[in-house]
Amino acid sequence: MQALVYNGPGQKNLEDRPKPSIQMPSDAIIRITKTTICGTDLHILKGDVPTCQPGTILGHEGVGVVDAVGPGVVSFKPGDRVLISCITACGRCASCRKGMYSHCATGGWILGHSIDGTQAEFVRVPYADTSLYPIPEGADEEALVMLSDILPTGFECGVLNGKVEPGSSVAIVGSGPIGLAALLTAQFYAPSEIIMIDLDDNRLAVGKRFGATATVNSADGNATQQVMKLTGGRGVDTAIEAVGIPATFKLCQDIVAAGGIVANVGVHGVKVDLHLEKLWSHNVTITTGLVDTFSIPMLLKTVQSKRIDAKQLITHHFKLGEIMQAYDTFSKAADTKALKVIIEA
Ligand SMILES: NC(=O)c1ccc[n+]([C@@H]2O[C@H](COP(=O)([O-])OP(=O)(O)OC[C@H]3O[C@@H](n4cnc5c(N)ncnc54)[C@H](O)[C@@H]3O)[C@@H](O)[C@H]2O)c1
Ligand SMILES: [Zn+2]
Ligand SMILES: [Zn+2]
Repeated sequence: MQALVYNGPGQKNLEDRPKPSIQMPSDAIIRITKTTICGTDLHILKGDVPTCQPGTILGHEGVGVVDAVGPGVVSFKPGDRVLISCITACGRCASCRKGMYSHCATGGWILGHSIDGTQAEFVRVPYADTSLYPIPEGADEEALVMLSDILPTGFECGVLNGKVEPGSSVAIVGSGPIGLAALLTAQFYAPSEIIMIDLDDNRLAVGKRFGATATVNSADGNATQQVMKLTGGRGVDTAIEAVGIPATFKLCQDIVAAGGIVANVGVHGVKVDLHLEKLWSHNVTITTGLVDTFSIPMLLKTVQSKRIDAKQLITHHFKLGEIMQAYDTFSKAADTKALKVIIEA
């Protein structure tokens, strides 16, 4: 089968690989119909994720059709259409029993990381019963690819951790797919202000279209002053960090109001400063988190009922044979205006 293989920092190839087979009774083999590329795949290719070994097939998002199941799988059978969570959960370990599936003792974020992932014709999904979701009859499968990772991540790590409330003020630093997913799902709670911050005017314009009340281009270095002006000098109740660099985490600390929350979502590769000399008296909460994807069933209903239009995050389409070109398009988002690219296997 064709598969996109990580061959060490800066190196990837579309290769011919053997089709995966059942290794454990709880495994399922899924024939991928649609997958996509995540900012985290680019982090891996930059060498930011040393736990991903060269030779691994990338990808942790997608939908497909069950091809085979191990003897222990009870909820799925060959032919079923399924959504794959980016988080694999055994459902039994101490972390899973707490609902913290991202820290499953033998699962968590393993697809396209420590085991072969979804950017291929077939993928082996361990713990199929607790890591796959049935796709409802007639659902738009392309939209559902946004539920494998980005919508639950923006919602759980940004909106829920950030305790967005009716009438509250929110700033989202980073208007990429994750920041935009936070923007879409923050609106469940009717905040009065949602300010999107980015360096890319195209992505800010998308933010405006998706419901931002204001946008700030932080390229000129006075984003803090602009946010203070927009909030009557108070700052925001929730500052969501959706980039993953020191400058944007600092900006969140500068714009959070007294009593507010900084909800970090970005993957950080280097040390970041915590300005307690300013924050110590401000009653500020800082949250961190890897997505658990417990919200997939709820978010699926909001997509099905059209409360959220997940498809508007999709900008480009490719065939699996064109995945090198898809990576090129996705990694040059400032020029190509790419958000999420769909790859059809
Ligand atoms: N916590 C989790 O579980 C989890 C899950 C998935 C992704 N992530 C992380 O979330 C982050 C966002 O993901 P994405 O796919 O949207 O990434 P992305 O790279 O597409 O988007 C990041 C955005 O930040 C903007 N940006 C860069 N530097 C900036 C600056 N100095 N000021 C303002 N904006 C700036 C870019 O223009 C871009 O629009 C990444 O770090 C990703 O690895 C975390
Ligand atoms: Zn991801
Ligand atoms: Zn577990």
